[in-house]
Amino acid sequence: MTKRDLVDRFSVSLPRSLARDLDRMVEERGLASRSRAIAALVRAELVEHRQRPDDAEITGTITLVYDHHRPRLQGLLTGIQHDHHHEILSTLHVHLDHDHCLEVLVVRGRAGAIRAIADALFAARGVTHGKLTVTGTGGR
Ligand code: NI
Repeated sequence: MTKRDLVDRFSVSLPRSLARDLDRMVEERGLASRSRAIAALVRAELVEHRQRPDDAEITGTITLVYDHHRPRLQGLLTGIQHDHHHEILSTLHVHLDHDHCLEVLVVRGRAGAIRAIADALFAARGVTHGKLTVTGTGGR
């Protein structure tokens, strides 16, 4: 008998369109199952997550797409940004279409603080896309 990592099972709720897109990716990439695909995505994200120690100085961008019709969302996102005005150097707002706004924040600061800002923004309900991109280490 081979020694294997034990398996944790949990259920995931996804918007139907996202689940369909996932299934399409599973098929296009020839993956064995949704579970394999999700495990690969989680591993890739963990690599990214562990890349920078919390106290390293980083520069990057936080990209957000959100539904501006959702009540109180815009105020919540703006409030989070004002709370971190030292780290957020500039913001770009684009009205993508009738419902959606795209925001790009240029950020600089300790990796742990920047990640916390990104996580707070991404956790807000109505944010449909969120991506933190680290473009470099400040001053180097
Ligand atoms: Ni807008």
